[in-house]
Amino acid sequence: MPLWYGGDHNPEQWPEEVWAEDVALMRRAGVNLVTVGVFSWSRLEPSEGRYTFGWLDRVLDLLADGGIRVDLAVPTASPPPWFSLAHPDALTVTRDGVRLTHGSRDTYCVSAPAYREASLRVTRALGERYRDHPALAMWHVHNEYGTPCHCDQAGAAFRTWLRERHGGLDALNDAWTTAFWGQHYSDWAQITPPRATQYLPNPAQALDFRRFVSEEMLAHFREQRDLLRELTPEVPVTTNYVLAGWASIDHWKWSREVDLVAVDHYPSGQGMAAAEQTAFAADLVRSWAGGRPWLLMEQATGYVLGPRMSPKEPGEIARHSLQHVARGSKGVMFFQWRASRGGAEQWHPGMLPHTGPDSRVFREVCDLGEALERIPTPPDEPVVEAEVAILWDEEAWWAVQGPGLPSAEIDYLAAAEQAHRVLWRQGVAACFAHPSHDLSAYRAVLVPSLYLISDEAARGLRAYVEGGGTLVVSFFSGIADEHTRIRLGGYPGALRETLGIRVEEFHPLAETVELPEYGRATVWSEIVHLDGAEAIARYPGGGPAVTRHRLGGGTAWYVSTRLDDRGYARVLAHAGLAGGGVPGVEVVRQRDRVFALNHTGDEQHVPVHGTDLITGKPVGGRLDPGGYVVVPV
Ligand code: GAL
Repeated sequence: MPLWYGGDHNPEQWPEEVWAEDVALMRRAGVNLVTVGVFSWSRLEPSEGRYTFGWLDRVLDLLADGGIRVDLAVPTASPPPWFSLAHPDALTVTRDGVRLTHGSRDTYCVSAPAYREASLRVTRALGERYRDHPALAMWHVHNEYGTPCHCDQAGAAFRTWLRERHGGLDALNDAWTTAFWGQHYSDWAQITPPRATQYLPNPAQALDFRRFVSEEMLAHFREQRDLLRELTPEVPVTTNYVLAGWASIDHWKWSREVDLVAVDHYPSGQGMAAAEQTAFAADLVRSWAGGRPWLLMEQATGYVLGPRMSPKEPGEIARHSLQHVARGSKGVMFFQWRASRGGAEQWHPGMLPHTGPDSRVFREVCDLGEALERIPTPPDEPVVEAEVAILWDEEAWWAVQGPGLPSAEIDYLAAAEQAHRVLWRQGVAACFAHPSHDLSAYRAVLVPSLYLISDEAARGLRAYVEGGGTLVVSFFSGIADEHTRIRLGGYPGALRETLGIRVEEFHPLAETVELPEYGRATVWSEIVHLDGAEAIARYPGGGPAVTRHRLGGGTAWYVSTRLDDRGYARVLAHAGLAGGGVPGVEVVRQRDRVFALNHTGDEQHVPVHGTDLITGKPVGGRLDPGGYVVVPV
């Protein structure tokens, strides 16, 4: 079976004459899957309960005739204007208490009964209409679930969720430390979502609300999924996560509920930074998928984040795509097929740009389609072996985004990205694991600033080291319990014994400090006392900055500051994690093939020999500047 190739297809934005040309050009580009109807609710149901499926029937028939399969979307991310006028109480309320108006997208409250009802109604109508359509390949529920609402209906649902989580009010008061600032609740009805308030809000309340939002949206996803499964038990149901500078949902939990893990990825960096972020994202998503194949549901043919949109350099579209495929994506999908001429994202690049098919981008899109046809889809089993795991936990990330922390510069995502980037440059294959996972199979486990950790996970990390593992923990990890309460007696409370240290004070840094041989330290420093560990690097004042603790059969390293990439790489090298790779040259091994990609502008040597599946040419251990090959092994 070939890899999936295509993108979001929004024919409702175009006159019908364009649709046949779309199919012809898709065929030219090798497109075999398109996502249809993501934002078409108002076109499908122009007034309550009245459906106009005719246009979508014609679109799907045209695609089926052209041999193109459809990832059919349930359009619930963008309720129609008639809906929000009829149900103003189903519109999103921000934490400042502002009720939003329709006019963009994602403006709904997932806890509002009117929204839930309308959403399931349109889901059922679509399911019943297209259950037997030959083009239907999968269901794409919603789009990038992630809109929190702070209205009273969300408040009621939040309280129900809290009762289940905490049991009684006493437990909640204790978990939230409501004794501080006299926030003690004597009745459930007093509890609201975290809304605009006079000064710092309660961090435990803020964190529980984020957990609730993820679970509330998951409950809605499940309702839609179950309904579709009932109608079409054979058709996989997915939803597209968004992977960028934020995470609105707990992806580990969600990934147990979808038939196919799918993600949208838009790097914020360009050039080499984009390649690094792409590798990071793809390894992370594969990990959410339990190591099995997943799908890149959206990316762009250009750079869209940041202050300027710019095209990707020649070759980058293919290289980014193959980075995903190398790490287990079952295909390459874009937002969107044809660049829009109007609307909010009229400047967003497409596979078919405003310029039309006579364009560099479309030629690269066609070349990529041809290349992908030659690469078989990986079987449904773990795709890439990684010896090193980086701990990833969205709850811990949410907690460091909370209020009142000792430094506004602690950045969990940046710490996780650095850990991955440094390994990537060394050519060390990495994956991600939740702190509660069984880690015993990994040679090393890296713990980026994991502020919050449960007792159970902390015990797991200790057992991992005692069992012979190498653990590298970065500053501000293991500080708080799952209710954001500080673990007492010296930081990092949960990991003190494992690391063989005791931290007495934190000293966030306003300026850069040079550490002999370990480069520049920024953001953070600590007064570390050795309690079994030895100092590997020291601050200029003499205090330990990097420590090593031998425990049982393994070793636990601690990095008490934010090192630059060079310094962090040096720690990893000391810990036995130097891979000897060339920065910018990646070699990813799947069971029966190896992908080699050269993101640099120079010719490079790679340990790969054989015949390239894409070109059919021999590969003799070298790659052209910007080149890539896929070689069976
Ligand atoms: C995605 C979204 C698409 C489109 C795209 C633009 O996050 O799902 O609908 O908005 O971003 O980059």
